[in-house]
Amino acid sequence: MDHSATTPVAARVLQAMLPYLSDKFGNASSLHSFGQEAKMALEESREKVAKLLGASPEEIIFTSGGTESDNLALKGIARRNWEHGRHIITTCIEHPAILETCKTLEKEGFAVTYLPVTGEGVVDMAALEAAIRPDTILISVMHANNEVGTIQPIEEIGKLAAEKDIYLHTDAVQSVGKIPTDVNALGVDLLSLSAHKIYGPKGVGALYIRRGTKLESIVQGGGHERGLRSGTENVAGIVGLAEAAQLCGESMAAEGQRLSMLCDRLAALVLGRVKDAWINGTMKRRLPGSLNFGFSFVEGESLLLYLDSKGIAVSTGSACSSHKLEPSHVLLSLGLPPVKCHGSLRITMGRSNTEEEVDYVGECIVEAVERFRGISALGR
Ligand SMILES: Cc1ncc(COP(=O)(O)O)c(C=O)c1O
Repeated sequence: MDHSATTPVAARVLQAMLPYLSDKFGNASSLHSFGQEAKMALEESREKVAKLLGASPEEIIFTSGGTESDNLALKGIARRNWEHGRHIITTCIEHPAILETCKTLEKEGFAVTYLPVTGEGVVDMAALEAAIRPDTILISVMHANNEVGTIQPIEEIGKLAAEKDIYLHTDAVQSVGKIPTDVNALGVDLLSLSAHKIYGPKGVGALYIRRGTKLESIVQGGGHERGLRSGTENVAGIVGLAEAAQLCGESMAAEGQRLSMLCDRLAALVLGRVKDAWINGTMKRRLPGSLNFGFSFVEGESLLLYLDSKGIAVSTGSACSSHKLEPSHVLLSLGLPPVKCHGSLRITMGRSNTEEEVDYVGECIVEAVERFRGISALGR
């Protein structure tokens, strides 16, 4: 129940990767046949990833994951285009891979506007329009939020960005493979994705870069990946990413429908039995499989540990920040008071989850909330 943190490597993905961890170990830069075999695997993988995005293979750059793709997109565009302007627009609810990169760019002299979102977690389009300045060079808005699952109106933002001739980047780490992410339909110039969120291996991802987009490399070296990402390619990981992308493309519609039904079932079960409980974000424009509950008078961490003891993995806030006890910046941005942020529980379902599991999880959540409310100092 924590698939937004990470997913297991699918059997088909592992099978595709194995030869590149043993016999087919060549360096894709070598000119001999071992190297050419690896190079071929790399280029076939580029085609598969491009296909999922409706892009051309040469528009895909392989990276070490979502964090690096986000860093490359933002720093790469900013450092190459600063002569045209030094203003960047993003949102308050981005992943730290974006927010921390923006802080670094602020130290380098760039100005960053952090847009507010509505109570459902949707970016405020009026605020976006108002934030655009003559020196704005980049807009970066995530496609779907990792904590509440809200999907942003990227198509609409894409039209605005194109009209104003501003580069548009989207962090699609949580949406790729789950909902359509055609780069032309979305109207984005750059898109980040990560393999381990889509049943691929950890430590590999990609950045889509529209042809003609000018950006600077952030890793210098031997000039791999068209000079944009030096370093001997992680061929096995990239083959895994490509297989995972293909697998998602094949099953996206049916799996999305199944996961949405499972979420509706769990939401109905829990909200029907627990008082003072709500959904953070929205039940409408959200990722299939993603639910964020709020409960008054109880702490999410206590619920998490109780559920863990029942064999159920969930999270509070995002996995990346779950070692912190500060309220989630996403929930605060949705307008929740800090005390209400502490009672949140993120459920993100995936391929192996079943109706029986959902019913078990629902029962355990009801039991846990009742138990902790009974003994909590926050209790009613
Ligand atoms: C929205 C979003 N962006 C970026 C990342 C970072 O991706 P990676 O773990 O591949 O570095 C994550 C991971 O949780 C994420 O959810």
